[in-house]
Amino acid sequence: MEQKELEKTLKQLHPLERKVLSILKSAKSFPEAVKLSGLQEVEVMRALEWLENRGAIKLEKLQRILVELDGNGQKYLREGLPEKRFLFAMKNIDGGVALSDIKRVAMLTDEEAQVSLGLLKKRAAIEIQTDGALKAKLTHIGQSLLEKIWLEEKFLHKNFPVDMATIVHEDKYAYEELKKRKNVLATKDVTERKIILTDFGKQLTEQKMEDKDTLGSLTPGMLKMQGWKGKEFRHYDVKINVPKIYGGRRHPLQETINQVRQIFMDMGFKEMDGPLVETAFWCMDSMWIPQDHPARDAQDTFYLPYEGRLPEKLSKKVAEEHEFGGRCGSKGYGYKWSPALARQLLLRTHTTATTFRYFGEKNIKPPAKYFYIGRIFRNESIDATHLPEFHQSEGFIMDEGLTLRDLMGYIKEFYHRMGIEKIKFKPTYNPYTEPSMEAMGYNEQLGKWVELINSGIFRPESLEPYGINVPVIAWGLGIERLAMMLHQQKDIRNMMGATGSLNWLRQHKSTGMG
Ligand code: PHE
Repeated sequence: MEQKELEKTLKQLHPLERKVLSILKSAKSFPEAVKLSGLQEVEVMRALEWLENRGAIKLEKLQRILVELDGNGQKYLREGLPEKRFLFAMKNIDGGVALSDIKRVAMLTDEEAQVSLGLLKKRAAIEIQTDGALKAKLTHIGQSLLEKIWLEEKFLHKNFPVDMATIVHEDKYAYEELKKRKNVLATKDVTERKIILTDFGKQLTEQKMEDKDTLGSLTPGMLKMQGWKGKEFRHYDVKINVPKIYGGRRHPLQETINQVRQIFMDMGFKEMDGPLVETAFWCMDSMWIPQDHPARDAQDTFYLPYEGRLPEKLSKKVAEEHEFGGRCGSKGYGYKWSPALARQLLLRTHTTATTFRYFGEKNIKPPAKYFYIGRIFRNESIDATHLPEFHQSEGFIMDEGLTLRDLMGYIKEFYHRMGIEKIKFKPTYNPYTEPSMEAMGYNEQLGKWVELINSGIFRPESLEPYGINVPVIAWGLGIERLAMMLHQQKDIRNMMGATGSLNWLRQHKSTGMG
């Protein structure tokens, strides 16, 4: 490394880094660095992380098992092993010694005496005489054992804590023996951080490092008091790795909503607003959806156990439309219309409920262009392409002479402004539009055509109750599916609320809208 590079780095070092760096020639581990620097643990850790970031050191995690003396271990270190004391109590006594005497002289607990007896018998250090009172007699082996320092005793005198990895050969034997006994040895797992100086780090430590306080920032107070005078400023390292900070940002779904809203506004549409809880009347009857339509089934619709009110005059006209087709030349459905069914409250299944509220309540006159973006609810099981609650965008245009061509034109224009160019149309069916038309868009990522929008021209039966006698072209589209396509997501669950992956929400490329 060139001298210039080194000097540049030196000017960037934080006072903590300088302090830690100065002791790294001798400190090889985190605890050593804390001890030698006299700094707090967090300060040393921070400085080490910065130094690692600069490539001056490498931090290595080392898992170790440390062996320590437990309560009995410490006691035996002070007083000797109980079995050794047992033997000492028998020293110089020929013939048998009563067990109770040994216990008293050697000051052993009942348990220690029992353990010692077992151990010494196993090693053939004593013999037990069973005639009369229980007596023990020292053997030759016992005699020679008395004169030796045992491996276990040596072990107790080690400099604890001891790294398990260093316990080998006869130490290993002593460890295993002592480990079998109660509360003699204890082990604990520790993670140790080793500090390894890199070549660059070594060169840095060779540099002269003055222990002066450089300034890290300029405060208003320093400006006022001229406190910066004669001080040196720490240089910024603009290339250093720093933790990513994720600021607040708009949810991709909200972005799409805003984008759709902006496009309709730009195209001269007015925005509608309507309630989430509707009567079946506004959600279905008002637009000539028959009362026995499968979509009214509880399988698709969330019903509420309450009833709402019906608009009196209008429901009469709607009833006529359902029953015999009103005066528009239709035959109607030919059943008796039930006001009770129409009064049921539900979570709206489409935003078209709001469109018809506008027809019924806002006295809309042609030419008119309206749009709406709102939540809707359908009793569907959740999977990669279905949610029971999602957003729909609705729109209608009411004017003389509108045809299917206009509808296709508006749809194409809308998607063009969304950046989606490959659109194709196909016929579909809605009870309230004729013709009905679906538009599909080509999803480049999935490599296939996906449904984007449902649309049509409202039927005379659905418009007659409102006295509308010019064509009305209209559509409804799912916002989540559109957002999926824009953001190349394969799973709709990523689009809704906080269930999506946090990483994706943080890192997704913004459409730049909204
Ligand atoms: N309500 C239809 C749906 O939910 C969309 C639509 C609106 C179709 C208006 C035609 C006209 O799919």
